[in-house]
Amino acid sequence: MKHEICKVADIPETGSLIAPFFGREVHVYRSGERIRAAANVCLHFGGPLDCKDGKLVCQWHGASFDMTSGERIEGPASKGSRLMFLSTRVEDGALNYVWGE
Ligand code: FES
Repeated sequence: MKHEICKVADIPETGSLIAPFFGREVHVYRSGERIRAAANVCLHFGGPLDCKDGKLVCQWHGASFDMTSGERIEGPASKGSRLMFLSTRVEDGALNYVWGE
């Protein structure tokens, strides 16, 4: 099954696009040749993340995460925690969340 997140053409070359996702949000961004979609949820207490200086940084207590690996860089989120990436596929110019395939 699939669910469209956004059009590929709308994803910026740098930074991220915040797209709605079933009542929540995902950060969508380019990472080398890949397009990543990470839940806009901090792994500490669930705060929203900002895309800053090539990292995703929590607005609440400042945890930061690597945009490529999703790994926590610093801050109060648990060591070893990593962003929740969605499984995605590009089809007909759109980025889709896919599941159950
Ligand atoms: S909720 Fe993100 S650092 Fe606390």
